[in-house]
Amino acid sequence: METVDAAARITGPSSDFSRIPYHLYTDQTVFDLEQERIFRGPTWSYLGFETEVKEPGDYITGYVGTTPYVLTRDKDGALHAFVNRCAHRGVAVVRDLRGNARNFTCIYHQWCYALNGDLIGVPMMKGMRGVGGYPDDFSVDGHGLKKLRVESFSGIVFGTFSDETPPLEDYLGPAICARLKLVCGRPIKVTGYHRHTMRANWKLFVENTRDMYHAPMLHPFLPVFGIADMNMRATMEMNERGGLNSVLAGYRPPPGGDEPARPRPTKGLVLEEPGVAVGVPEFQDGLALAIISIFPSCLFTLPGNTFSVRQIRPKKPDLVETLYTWYAFEDDDQEMLQRRRMQNNLFGPAGYVAMEDAEALELIQQRISDAALDGCSVLEFGGRGTEDRIDHMLSEGAIRAFWKGYCDIMGIPVSDESAAA
Ligand code: FES
Ligand SMILES: [Fe+2]
Repeated sequence: METVDAAARITGPSSDFSRIPYHLYTDQTVFDLEQERIFRGPTWSYLGFETEVKEPGDYITGYVGTTPYVLTRDKDGALHAFVNRCAHRGVAVVRDLRGNARNFTCIYHQWCYALNGDLIGVPMMKGMRGVGGYPDDFSVDGHGLKKLRVESFSGIVFGTFSDETPPLEDYLGPAICARLKLVCGRPIKVTGYHRHTMRANWKLFVENTRDMYHAPMLHPFLPVFGIADMNMRATMEMNERGGLNSVLAGYRPPPGGDEPARPRPTKGLVLEEPGVAVGVPEFQDGLALAIISIFPSCLFTLPGNTFSVRQIRPKKPDLVETLYTWYAFEDDDQEMLQRRRMQNNLFGPAGYVAMEDAEALELIQQRISDAALDGCSVLEFGGRGTEDRIDHMLSEGAIRAFWKGYCDIMGIPVSDESAAA
């Protein structure tokens, strides 16, 4: 009851989602509600690739919102995920980022957990020499690590805390499923990781990944070296889950066509290492770049030939970490692997493009975090309100769609008072 009131008291975006009050990016109350209603609510969060836990006993660790988890594969090949917090006194049970184990033993009092998170051993259950120990009715049953429901799609593993979350494929929606099948449709291998921490609210990062407006403005690298520009043939699909999931795609023109929408490098400017920017066609539909956002916790980015998934890990209202997992296809030859590695330079904490995004987001957070300042951001590029699909890049419609879905799941009412701010 307490939290229903808390959401209803929050001043939300305007009803056309063209005004977003700044306090939604700064308030601790909003942040705490997001953990409850979104990250521990009826959503599927990205946990990792099946190939990262290929063998029995393999495990990786990560975060769903602020909650730490472990993803494992048991001896029978089944996948499991559980909260990485000892059921005895709360110690982090698994302290490595990834590895292989027969079971997990907490360092503090050595409670021991199976690969599925069940408690299987407790030291001194019966005390010593008839003294101490646990009460007779104490049982290891019911003291396992808190489990998540786990499902996979196209080799990508998701988890949820809620029994109300719909089946994964329904949650993702047809547009996302079609793209994921394309970009993870062949066996993949992980080629590396990056962690990037930004002193900004996690939703600023999400907005940025749906913001085509800024791409050629903040990142002149993209149009100047022919990676992307606003004239590309493009689609934005915001699926039926209230706009929370989206696919933004840019396409190469068909061979031999006279379509003008081809990013062209600026004459006279050349990169010393052109391989950073020049991609080769990989997909039959001419896909040149794609950003697949899966609410709330991940996005797949595919510009040119470099592929990664980023796990979004909110830490505080003004702090977010993203974990990049870089991947390639198992059957890539050395030339393709090298091409992908070169293009990885666009992203990551020192990436030519991603570090500019981080700088912009941190500059926003610095300016809006003063509680004495009210105000809101203005999202009117490409119109007002929300649409399911937009067939160009000249719109902030994908961001407005995100806010619509966000307010629905959070229970935050829209408020046209915010438009006057
Ligand atoms: S806190 Fe883990 S065994 Fe005591
Ligand atoms: Fe950007």
